[in-house]
Amino acid sequence: MNNVVESTLSIEKNPNPVPADERARRLENPAFGRVFTDHMATIRYTEGKGWHDAKVGPRGVIPSDPAMQVFHYAQEIFEGMKAYRLPDGGGALFRPDANARRFQNSAKRLAMPSLPEDLFLASVRELVRLDREWIPSGEGSALYLRPFMMATEVALGVKPAAEYLYCVIACPVGAYFKGGASAAVTIWVSDSYTRAAPGGTGEAKCGGNYAASLVAQAEATREGCDQVVFLDAVERRWIEELGGMNVFFVFEDGSLQTPPLTGTILPGITRDSLITLARDMGLTVREEPYSIDQWQADARSGRLREAFACGTAAVVTPIGKVKGHKHNFTIGNGGAGELTTKLKAALVDLQNGRAPDPHGWLDRVF
Ligand code: PLP
Ligand code: COI
Repeated sequence: MNNVVESTLSIEKNPNPVPADERARRLENPAFGRVFTDHMATIRYTEGKGWHDAKVGPRGVIPSDPAMQVFHYAQEIFEGMKAYRLPDGGGALFRPDANARRFQNSAKRLAMPSLPEDLFLASVRELVRLDREWIPSGEGSALYLRPFMMATEVALGVKPAAEYLYCVIACPVGAYFKGGASAAVTIWVSDSYTRAAPGGTGEAKCGGNYAASLVAQAEATREGCDQVVFLDAVERRWIEELGGMNVFFVFEDGSLQTPPLTGTILPGITRDSLITLARDMGLTVREEPYSIDQWQADARSGRLREAFACGTAAVVTPIGKVKGHKHNFTIGNGGAGELTTKLKAALVDLQNGRAPDPHGWLDRVF
């Protein structure tokens, strides 16, 4: 595939941004993914020409044709990352290079062109600079960035498209779950549906994975749960991840465990960061399979003390209860555990520039 970068990013300020008082009103309680900023980044790709027309400009509609390949065969990938408000009023991204690399890996799996890392980074950094007034400063809030790429070739033949649009939009966000940032969630064990099989797209961040998870998520909601935990597709016993986040277990000896990256789960950047932060604290972290029956047995015996979900949107969210057709148990006292709270504070303090950054994860943008 041709990867020639033809242009540098052009920048056009929105001539009609949301007025400051209206923006302040929208920033008061943005929830998750409902409020959007004034700008967006777009870059086009054409086979034989490469990446071109890179710009950050006013947010607007995307021109589309009903025969665009993405509408039919779902050739689409995305990323999720946040810009944080720093104590001095500046703004920083968290490990954006890791998102750029994961985006390239997802593209490869979906037979899409690879967006060069410097172009990915330039697009998100410029968007954050232009939309800097939209970064909220309240505890637990941030500017969520959603880079995505889709097949725009107008053709119905089933083959990798020859044209693509890469785009980044942004939205100020608070807690992902309705209960707020520190409330524990209840998880539904899906025994009818799986998310990803070996050889499939589980480790790619493609829209299709989420489409396939929605029926299970709807079942979870009907059962009064917040999220689904998916089991492996082969034996239907090993815990993989939740619909939109990775999962960790905390044991009575203070050690942590999380499912290994075997190709069927998303390699979370939060997961990776927490493993590093926990090891920095001298804790033992195992990346090993854990079965749903063992989880229930250990929660009931008290060997398992805490469990939490983690991801860019979810940050670190305690898991209080687990329910399913064959499972029903509470973890600890059903609230946020001590180590979960400590790890979350370590991560959030680093992301907001309140703690040292020994691994160089913060990328200051202004
Ligand atoms: N797993 C899934 C399925 C996700 O959608 C996400 C969120 O992006 C994660 C895990 C966590 O990944 P990250 O920590 O990079 O946001
Ligand atoms: C993210 O955390 O970025 C995700 O994509 C997960 C989704 C629940 C919004």
